[in-house]
Formats: sequence, C-alpha cells, structure tokens
Amino acid sequence: MTPSQLHPLEINPQTGEPFLRLAALHQNIIITPPRQGDQFVTIQHINDPAIYKWLENPPIPYLPEHADSWIQFVRKESDVTLDYLRKSAEEFPDGPLQFVDACPVRHIREVKEDGTDVIIGDVNFRRSPFEEVLDEVERKQMQEDNAKKQAGDPTIVYAIGDWLAASHHGRGIMTAAIGLLMTAWGIPRMGVRHVVAHTFAGNIGSNRTFEKNGFVNRGLFDNGKIARGEKKIMTLLEWKHEEVS
Ligand SMILES: CC(C)(COP(=O)(O)OP(=O)(O)OC[C@H]1O[C@@H](n2cnc3c(N)ncnc32)[C@H](O)[C@@H]1OP(=O)(O)O)[C@@H](O)C(=O)NCCC(=O)NCCS
Repeated sequence: MTPSQLHPLEINPQTGEPFLRLAALHQNIIITPPRQGDQFVTIQHINDPAIYKWLENPPIPYLPEHADSWIQFVRKESDVTLDYLRKSAEEFPDGPLQFVDACPVRHIREVKEDGTDVIIGDVNFRRSPFEEVLDEVERKQMQEDNAKKQAGDPTIVYAIGDWLAASHHGRGIMTAAIGLLMTAWGIPRMGVRHVVAHTFAGNIGSNRTFEKNGFVNRGLFDNGKIARGEKKIMTLLEWKHEEVS
C-alpha cells in the first residue's frame, strides 16, 4: 500500500490533527501544528529570562500582539504545507511521496492523563540565515540563493531553532525532539542534507542537544550580532548527511 502523503505523521482520531510522537521515555510528548490559542502559554514562556536570553528574535516584553502575529504566521506556514500534501495525495495517489520545504508540526505538547495537552515548546526548520558568514553582502547573497532553491534540493541549507519550557529542561526532551524532527520528517520528507544551528556563546544545553544528534561544534564566531541591545558571540553547529559530508 502506498503510504499517505502525510507519512509518517499520525492523525489524532478525535480532532484530525496530524502529529509526531516522541519515542519510549517521552511518549506523552507530541509535536503538532501550531494552534489558535497557543498564544497565552507561549507568552508566559517567552517572557521567562531562562528562555529569552538565548533567543534572538522575540521582542521583550513579549506582548499578546507579538504572540498573535507570530501564531498567525506559523499557522499559515503549517497550513500551506499540509494543504500541499493533501493536494498531492489527490494528484499522486500511488506516490511517490512529495518533498516539502517545511515541517508542518513544530509545537511540542505534553499530553496529560485526561487526554488534554499543553504547549511546552517549539522546534522548527527554516532556511539558514548563514550567521557564520561574516561579510554582510555575501551573507545576504547566500540567503537569497538558498531561498530560491526548490523543495527537496539537497544543497539547501536549513537551520533549526527551538525553545522548551523551563519546567521541562534537562529531561532529554529537546534532544529527542530534534532527533525525531530530523529522522521522521526532515531527512525523508524535506530531503534535508545540510542543517546548522546558531547558538549564543555559553548555551551549553542547546549545543549538547545538537551534538547528541550528530551535529559538529564548529566553534565560536563574531558577526557583530546585537540582540536586544547586547553584543552576542555565536557558536556554529553543523550536520551533514553522510552522502554529502
Ligand atoms: C536548550 C534547550 C532547548 C535544551 O532542552 P532540554 O530538553 O533541556 O535539553 P536536554 O534535556 O535534551 O539536554 C541535552 C543535554 O544538554 C545538557 N544540558 C541541558 N541544559 C543544560 C544547561 N543549562 N547547562 C549545561 N548542560 C545542559 C543535558 O545535561 C544534556 O546533556 P547530557 O545528556 O550529556 O547530560 C532548553 O534548555 C531551552 O529551551 N533553553 C532556552 C532556549 C534556548 O536556548 N533555545 C535554543 C536556542 S539556539
């Protein structure tokens, strides 16, 4: 039987929502599309200094309007991918599975005993911003060239970004979530062959989550980054599929 174009996403029989489930030790953790309503809990976590001090983009204080526009943006991104895959199921009922350039699931949720769930984090792919390229003009050019490439192109460089609620740090959840995102979706469904992560210097926990998933720590670099008024030195972590390394 030809697998569904959503393969290997599971489908929640009650809600129809696609999801990935973490393995063994973390079976109560799932990764789903962003949902309307995720704003409230997200605001609480992003305003936690243990989270935002390692993130470049969110404005602090992180206000309801910031969360609203962000959740609309990521929901749309996820919907576009899911719509494309559902359409592909009609166009290619006998396969092959079509490549996409995004992962439609990204919000990490803890499922409680009563079946309800609560958002505890985010893990996602995007096209690399090439932070490690120190020359600004060259960096912009590389971003543009990378952005133009079609889904499934093995030369696309992707970057992973993530955060997890402080209440859940240190249990191996993000290490498992990154591994799942890479092996269940990124490699087979996006054709990712080259992935990087850019962390702020000193973010040992984040570096470890990537290293434990086969990323190589390429060391520190200074591209002049200022985040919320503070100068940042960054670390480059890099993963290449065996065929291209
Ligand atoms: C980075 C982050 C996602 C890690 O998630 P996590 O689920 O706590 O990580 P894990 O439990 O999978 O830990 C992986 C490894 O890092 C280590 N680690 C985790 N947090 C650490 C910390 N603060 N200091 C040192 N080591 C740490 C763990 O001990 C583990 O290593 P080990 O197995 O060798 O003992 C989480 O701490 C976080 O959300 N931080 C704030 C936001 C952030 O930094 N995002 C990443 C931006 S690049």
